[in-house]
Amino acid sequence: MQKKFLGIALFCAATALFSCTQDPLKDFDCAGSTPTYTTDIAPIMAANCTGCHGTTSPSDNLDLTTYAKVKAEGDLFCSVNYDNGCESMPKGGAKLSDADIKKIACWINNGYKE
Ligand code: HEC
Repeated sequence: MQKKFLGIALFCAATALFSCTQDPLKDFDCAGSTPTYTTDIAPIMAANCTGCHGTTSPSDNLDLTTYAKVKAEGDLFCSVNYDNGCESMPKGGAKLSDADIKKIACWINNGYKE
């Protein structure tokens, strides 16, 4: 009986840990913060990403120059937040500022406003 209880406790701890590493987007408090692609995200992409991810033969075949394409890139946040399982971006450059990472997180969390 005790063993079974321990098992359940361990399972819950593992699940909590897993869900927390699984979705770092939830760590951001985005209440009242509604970044838009045009005002907030496009300038971050232009300054840090489109040099490689432009329209002409982009790295990884990933063009990050339009709203639809940036929105469609499921690894966008994972890469700039240096999460496990993604290549860290910008490749070979400094990590984005916390403010920029938060803008990207809140842009996603609050519905990818254009
Ligand atoms: C110096 C060139 C360069 C810059 C700048 C750059 N990338 Fe990349 N990116 C690459 C290359 C090359 C790959 C292919 C994977 C690899 O070789 O690491 C890639 C892959 C990716 C991927 C796929 C990651 C994965 O794990 O599959 C995403 C998403 C991405 N980049 C987003 C970005 C974003 C967002 C920025 C700007 C914050 C950025 N990149 C800046 C070169 C670059």
